[in-house]
Amino acid sequence: MKDIRREIADDNEVDDVLHRKRNKIISLLKTKFDFQNAHLRSTANNNDGLLEKCKNYDAPDQAKALGIYPYFREIEAASGSQVVIEGKKVVTVSTNNYLGLTQDPRVVEAAKKALDLFGAGCTGSRFLNGTLSLHKRLETELADFLGREDSIVMSTGFQANQGTISCLLGRKDVAFSDRENHASIYEGCAISPGKTMRYNHNDMEHLEYYLKKYRDVPGKLIITDTIFSMSGDIANLPAIVKLAKDYGAVVLVDEAHGLGVMGDGGRGVASYYSLEKEIDLYMGTFSKSLGSIGGFISSNKKVTEYIRHKASAFIFTAALPPASVAGVLAALDIMISEPWRQEKLQENTSYVKKGFFDMGFQVNNNVVPIVPIKVGDEALTLFMNQLLFEDGVFAGVAVSPVVPSQQAMIRTSFMSNHSREDLDYVLNSFKKFGVELGIIPR
Ligand SMILES: Cc1ncc(COP(=O)(O)O)c(C=O)c1O
Repeated sequence: MKDIRREIADDNEVDDVLHRKRNKIISLLKTKFDFQNAHLRSTANNNDGLLEKCKNYDAPDQAKALGIYPYFREIEAASGSQVVIEGKKVVTVSTNNYLGLTQDPRVVEAAKKALDLFGAGCTGSRFLNGTLSLHKRLETELADFLGREDSIVMSTGFQANQGTISCLLGRKDVAFSDRENHASIYEGCAISPGKTMRYNHNDMEHLEYYLKKYRDVPGKLIITDTIFSMSGDIANLPAIVKLAKDYGAVVLVDEAHGLGVMGDGGRGVASYYSLEKEIDLYMGTFSKSLGSIGGFISSNKKVTEYIRHKASAFIFTAALPPASVAGVLAALDIMISEPWRQEKLQENTSYVKKGFFDMGFQVNNNVVPIVPIKVGDEALTLFMNQLLFEDGVFAGVAVSPVVPSQQAMIRTSFMSNHSREDLDYVLNSFKKFGVELGIIPR
């Protein structure tokens, strides 16, 4: 990284005209790293044997040598908005701990108690020998909170989507899935015997086009994230619900990023639009606002009972460990009894969005605490991310194939316990490098 910065500094063609400087930086990086073909993911597809693609896969090493590799940074300690990486304290804006509950002493204490009572794990599947009284309590509390008949607690949110979709979608059924939906939804659809039509992101005309096309199929399932994890967009649930009614489809919402963030008491986007009753299946995770790990599906009893006995991703895997379940139970209680957290999260979100917007970055005008900063070029995105990190800001990146290669972004996300000082620090750092790299005006 130092070498690249020196080369940029030494290059007298890199003058003050920002767009020229930016292009120069991009081309310097590109002479050293084949972004076009690498995408940090193997594209090899030869006939030399199964493991040949691994031997030829050197994109991560190249990126590491250049000092712009953004993944698997080791967090050595964490406390609220601050984490320690490589021995250095940095502000994290790469978090889903929206309500700041991961390290809340009450959550940690509850987890410790469960550890003492039940031990480190369940060593078995919920189905046969891994269901604890704690799992059942959490299922009941979630169902009560969401006004649903029943819930199923699963080991991850990924499995909740994958298991539910793949067991519900039969051979003659059709799923209609937003193109920006989470990978777990893609996987659930891919392993089911049914057909999946992927409609363009938040494009209701395209969704209707497919619904019309399959109007005679009795089994139709519309699946959407309510808040999209990369763009921070909100799904157009009122239109989806209307189309579902018009064409006789069932609706599954993934509220991974909606729970705790939007709606009455943090009940999610369906609640925000007062559409809870129109939603057939509500999926959520514990790995974001509830600060832990795990996922769930809520629906009516007949549906949950079917999924409970049919979903492979639920039946053939070990149950969520006791400490995690107890932590989630405590976090849920806190979320319900301390609505100020959701309010503070929204206040922080508005503050940073205004800050980014005033500097000249494009941001979504909504209350979602996921704020992608569009940089465009992949090389420049990785470079800027590294500069931010060295300056004390830990952010995520989204490059190809997660987003198209010229739409790379730095993904920031915010929490209720970011202080004003943290937010100003982050904004200043983005301003400094945004200007230096010619992404925003001076
Ligand atoms: C929209 C969405 N759905 C599902 C998941 C999977 O959840 P988990 O990480 O709890 O497995 C995620 C996680 O990033 C997500 O963003």
